[in-house]
Amino acid sequence: MVSETTPLQRPNDYEDEEFSPFERFMVRIGSSKRLLWALGLIIGLPIVYFLMVFLPSLAPPSADVPDLIKVGKAPVYLHPLIPPKKLELVNGESTSDKYNDPESPIKNVPNFEKWSLLDKDTKLFRRHFKKLGAAASQKPVKRLILIGDVHGSLFELQKLLKHVKYDGGHHDHVVLLGDFLAKGKNSLGVLEYAIQNRVDCILGNHEWEILKRYVQYHGLPGVGFNESKNELRATEQYDLDEQMRIAKRLMPEHIDYISKCPLIKELGPVPRMTNKKRRKYASVPANGVAVHGGLVWSVEDLQDQDPEAVLTMRNLLPPDYTVPTENRHEVVDGEKSKPWTRFWTRHQLEVAANASDDAFTAGTKVYYGHDAKRGVCFREFSTGLDSGCVYGAQLSAEIIWSEVVSTKSEDRIVYRNLFTQINC
Ligand SMILES: *[C@@H]1O[C@H](CO)[C@@H](O)[C@H](O)[C@H]1NC(C)=O
Ligand SMILES: *[C@@H]1O[C@H](CO)[C@@H](O)[C@H](O)[C@H]1NC(C)=O
Repeated sequence: MVSETTPLQRPNDYEDEEFSPFERFMVRIGSSKRLLWALGLIIGLPIVYFLMVFLPSLAPPSADVPDLIKVGKAPVYLHPLIPPKKLELVNGESTSDKYNDPESPIKNVPNFEKWSLLDKDTKLFRRHFKKLGAAASQKPVKRLILIGDVHGSLFELQKLLKHVKYDGGHHDHVVLLGDFLAKGKNSLGVLEYAIQNRVDCILGNHEWEILKRYVQYHGLPGVGFNESKNELRATEQYDLDEQMRIAKRLMPEHIDYISKCPLIKELGPVPRMTNKKRRKYASVPANGVAVHGGLVWSVEDLQDQDPEAVLTMRNLLPPDYTVPTENRHEVVDGEKSKPWTRFWTRHQLEVAANASDDAFTAGTKVYYGHDAKRGVCFREFSTGLDSGCVYGAQLSAEIIWSEVVSTKSEDRIVYRNLFTQINC
């Protein structure tokens, strides 16, 4: 096939000797093509000019970032529930074999639709409500659902919410524990989904980084917390990294959502477990707060915690263990740093022991994310919920509710929780 029709080969050295590369190029395309090139330039240049002038208007409209909130309150409180009769519970919940392995963290989640709200006119409710001190603006809900680092894993977030039977915000209140953006496939999708499905949030280090890039990209004045003591403003210059790529695509409604995620969110009373196997509840609930990274035990007032540390800390440094670090392996004078949760729990045990006998709550329990390497971690005054979904592990949720328990002598309201997760 090749033989007859193959054109004569020119000698190898022919082109290099006689013509410059440019001349060879011009010969090859011929004179009519040269005309086309000229025409192309005449038409193309104005188009390029037009794009350069008007391209900025193709960027999304920008919105000033309002002052971020350092300590916010969940807009809900847990209304005490009356569980359905035992028999109903068994009939209703013993269907899915897949989730019934007692060792599995993937638990069957009770159908809370069948749990009724305690009547507001009862003495029990009124007494409880008074102690609760709920603001008039706070809405009663049946469940608080706290979810660890989502990192743009929209499909998995939807799967987990389906697994816990999220009711879309009617009687449930979901709080994402920060870092719901970046790393994963669909950060913008998670944002849109959270906005549309009334999913609440706290700020993570990734959201903070994205906000800083957003103000740089749009040339806005800055972003930070309204507090001279803990001023935190964006000053650095950023390259086009993943967080910048997300920042560039944010619309004003996204900024509105992210900037309302507080650094620290107060959750109201939450249950605490007094033993490692998580079988025994303490008789008095703790005050719940949600943060992305952690809190320093020696700083009494939440308002005095350092924002950047709250977003990023994992450990505390020796010798005093009051200086936070993100680096799990940091060593000072040959001494290892240790998890902040250890000191937090030790300190809160003391705070709880000092509480008066009739106190409604004792100690502060922290729900956090940010530490996928350590993973899910339960201590008496802290619960870590980042189980590394974006690395193909699990997405985890802690479900919290309050419940009426009737004994022979009295009716009491207790706080309960259920940990569950899905595979990513
Ligand atoms: C901080 O917030 C207060 C009250 O909301 C406001 O009066 C004040 O102007 C704010 N300060 C700054 C620096 O924005
Ligand atoms: C608990 O009470 C003791 C005695 O009043 C006090 O010395 C200690 O500082 C208190 N601890 C905390 C964490 O409040």
